[in-house]
Amino acid sequence: MNGNTNMRQNIVLIGFMGCGKTTVGRELHLRLGYPFVDMDQVIEQRQGRSVSEIFALDGEAAFREMESALLRELLVSPLPRQIISTGGGIVTRPENIQVLRCLGYVVWLQASSSVILDRTSKTRTRPLLQTENPSERVAALLTEREPLYRAASHLNVETYGLDCKELATGILESARYFFSF
Ligand code: S3P
Repeated sequence: MNGNTNMRQNIVLIGFMGCGKTTVGRELHLRLGYPFVDMDQVIEQRQGRSVSEIFALDGEAAFREMESALLRELLVSPLPRQIISTGGGIVTRPENIQVLRCLGYVVWLQASSSVILDRTSKTRTRPLLQTENPSERVAALLTEREPLYRAASHLNVETYGLDCKELATGILESARYFFSF
């Protein structure tokens, strides 16, 4: 039992860019049939522009406001059970840590910096990594964020060597114990 009667029954995926939140989230959605919310996609749809455009035109702080507001919105959603995939920087606002933990079972997907670099170098959709030295940026952000992911999560999953189906199976087993469903 999770011991918190106010907690919603979502499964919330957190972790660094490129760790597989969206792919694993879709797999959980297929298995459980719960609606899937990809927070970056919701923000892009509402804004009618990409995350990169929001960063370029309004700045990172404006994007953080949008994602924090959406997170609070999910807390009062009429749908108590969803699969929620967050953006990698959701934990950088301290107030979001508590909101995340009230949203449900928070799963931190971990990947090594080399896997992250490999995956994120295939697209140019991550504004924070469009720098001269993405490897240095990933290392710095990981150092800053790892304690935050740890503080926000109920479960920590090392993704190395596992595909999205295997990851989903493990997460579902643990979620069943957590929620006792
Ligand atoms: C960010 C991660 C991105 C997106 C934005 C900022 C971050 O989401 O929200 O580019 O600060 O780590 P993904 O983790 O889905 O790539």
